[in-house]
Amino acid sequence: VSVVGVIGGGQLARMMIPAAVNLGLDIAVFAETDNSSARIGATYAGDYTDLSQLLSFAATVDVVTFDHEHVPVAHLEALQAQGTPVFPPPRALALTHNKIVMRRALAEIGVPQPRWSVATQATRDEALGEVGGFPFIAKLPVGGYDGKGVRLVTQWEDLDDWWSTGEVLFEEAVDFTREIAQLSARRPSGHWVPWAAVETRQEGGVCATVLCPAPGFSQAAHDKARDIARRIAEAYEVVGVLAVELFETREGGLLVNELAMRPHNSGHVLTEQAITSQFEQHLRAVADYPLGSTELQRPAGVMVNVFGDASITRYRDAAEEFPEVKFHSYQKAPRPGRKAGHLVATGDDMDTVFDTAVSAWSMVEHGKA
Ligand SMILES: Nc1ncnc2c1ncn2[C@@H]1O[C@H](COP(=O)(O)OP(=O)(O)O)[C@@H](O)[C@H]1O
Ligand SMILES: [Mg+2]
Repeated sequence: VSVVGVIGGGQLARMMIPAAVNLGLDIAVFAETDNSSARIGATYAGDYTDLSQLLSFAATVDVVTFDHEHVPVAHLEALQAQGTPVFPPPRALALTHNKIVMRRALAEIGVPQPRWSVATQATRDEALGEVGGFPFIAKLPVGGYDGKGVRLVTQWEDLDDWWSTGEVLFEEAVDFTREIAQLSARRPSGHWVPWAAVETRQEGGVCATVLCPAPGFSQAAHDKARDIARRIAEAYEVVGVLAVELFETREGGLLVNELAMRPHNSGHVLTEQAITSQFEQHLRAVADYPLGSTELQRPAGVMVNVFGDASITRYRDAAEEFPEVKFHSYQKAPRPGRKAGHLVATGDDMDTVFDTAVSAWSMVEHGKA
């Protein structure tokens, strides 16, 4: 493999670019617009739902991978038929396209997950029984991200506007103690390596902060999270990075929330903290190179997401005060609530690192520590 093609020009594609440079790979990004976050690596801007555009892009690369999960499976199969390997393979990627398909697939391999059911307006009462009654979580099977398409339902009126979209996924409202993400990567040959599990904290359904490794996560818990990730990666022959979002329950159990088969927000901390970043590992995996070490170079790491726009201009002040903090700007067009960047602090002691990261974030986001 000498040219990796990435469909989608968001910040994930953007952060694959320096990793490709270091590996000596050329990277070609199929972006949505001329000023995408990954524009420096873009070779094409167009519409990824248009098969003819995808086919001509794929003819210029040796392997196709992704920054997002929105390309229809039929299109991906057409790329394969044209002779371009697609990683992760369409059969695996299909699990991330539709949360109902994912729940069924996970049930098939016996991976622990919240109680769930599929409802239409006509079958909602039966489906409600299967998830234990109100309140429960309803999800649109397709197209949700950052908490859009996820609702806590306390009465039927909360769902009135969703029935016209088709089937809705119901899940028990899990009373979790915290959320965990297990990242790993798999090569086409089957070689698979995990990173340490991380703790993710969401605000309003959006990832805000990540702590690595997840504080107090026992060896037994790490083993359990790895076993879940490995079973999914092997059963569906995932190639590239696999992120498994998990709920930790009061009894110490782990339930799968959802999957991503690409670099993931919960893995940004690894760029500074681990020997091999998720972006490098993803490229190694899809190019079928040997995977790099996932060992952590510092015992504690914290990532905080930066939202909005004004924040970016304040980074200089934060950089003055916190030279040890690493800041990443996505150079995205400003929009309220949009992820605009992130920062990472690493060190020896989690409490100290957390305080540093949050103080630096506060300066960036609010102009004061
Ligand atoms: N079954 C559930 N029980 C409790 N909280 C949930 C459940 N499903 C989702 N959530 C909360 O909503 C957030 C977003 O849900 P998720 O399915 O991951 O959607 P998205 O695709 O937007 O990330 C989760 O990170 C979690 O905080
Ligand atoms: Mg999620």
